[in-house]
Amino acid sequence: MSGLSVGGVELRSPVLAASGTFGYGTEVPLCDRRRLGGMVSKGIFLQPRPGAPPPRIVETPSGMLNAIGLQGPGVEALIRDYCPLWADWDFPVLVNINGESVAEYAELAARLDGVPGVSGMEVNVSCPNVREGGMFFGKDPAQAAAVTAAVRRSTRLPVWVKLTPAVTDLAEVARACESSGADALCAINTLVGMSIDLSTGRPRLAFGTGGLSGPAIHPIAVHLAHQAAQSVAIPVIGIGGISGAEDALEFLYAGCQAVQVGTATFIDPNAIGKTVEALEALDWRRLVEGTRSTVSAG
Ligand SMILES: Cc1cc2nc3c(=O)[nH]c(=O)nc-3n(C[C@H](O)[C@H](O)[C@H](O)COP(=O)(O)O)c2cc1C
Repeated sequence: MSGLSVGGVELRSPVLAASGTFGYGTEVPLCDRRRLGGMVSKGIFLQPRPGAPPPRIVETPSGMLNAIGLQGPGVEALIRDYCPLWADWDFPVLVNINGESVAEYAELAARLDGVPGVSGMEVNVSCPNVREGGMFFGKDPAQAAAVTAAVRRSTRLPVWVKLTPAVTDLAEVARACESSGADALCAINTLVGMSIDLSTGRPRLAFGTGGLSGPAIHPIAVHLAHQAAQSVAIPVIGIGGISGAEDALEFLYAGCQAVQVGTATFIDPNAIGKTVEALEALDWRRLVEGTRSTVSAG
């Protein structure tokens, strides 16, 4: 381990795989796993879900839109099929948890509490691709606080809360989650977008809208992660459009303690490993030490 403790989780490097872009990590042997700081698994609900109908992914300028709709096997299958694998891995796995009610989030957290292989929970109050739950909880500070507090009461594991950019004041939501017991915040989830097929006049995604990710969202994500880091004392994990070490460094300079990489691994499965190597070559800890305090909102 690198001695990098972030929000109660011992990371091996400051770069994690983002939820939904790394499945349950079973393809990890294909990648350079030595460099992976940790992984957040695909979002899970209590029950199995088929997700949204296809097409679910379309490419857009400098990014992509997805509407997977939180497809998943449900928590019992996750515990049976994947957690035993994770228990043998040499990097931490956080489970991205989802619910349609506060009670469902709490039940999921309780079910996963103490399961070998689970190092923490990332509470997804920010998914744009489901009709019930998801972003609803993350848009309202009181709802975000209610979910965070219920999860906090249900587990002794580290609780990270993943924020949505679809708010007027991210700082308010960030503070609400912090005061309800979050150990860290993750900023950001995708932004809602739409792409229209000119030959049909209809949206190219079957769900209609989708979550925009990739380089197109990087400056927005850096701004919002900076805003979150300025407003809370707990660590912030920066997410959005990271393709390499420079993109990651912007988040670290903005006050984040770690970052997650998602869409870039669709282009290069070793994007995380390469980012970590390049960060180390740049001596990122020294760079960040010298710069963090000088980045202000302007
Ligand atoms: C195909 C796909 C599936 C995703 N699924 C989830 C998910 O299940 N839970 C979640 O919190 N975020 C999910 N996300 C959002 C990512 O974890 C990340 O926050 C977002 O893509 C921004 O990072 P990036 O620009 O590096 O991809 C998904 C993103 C993509 C592209």
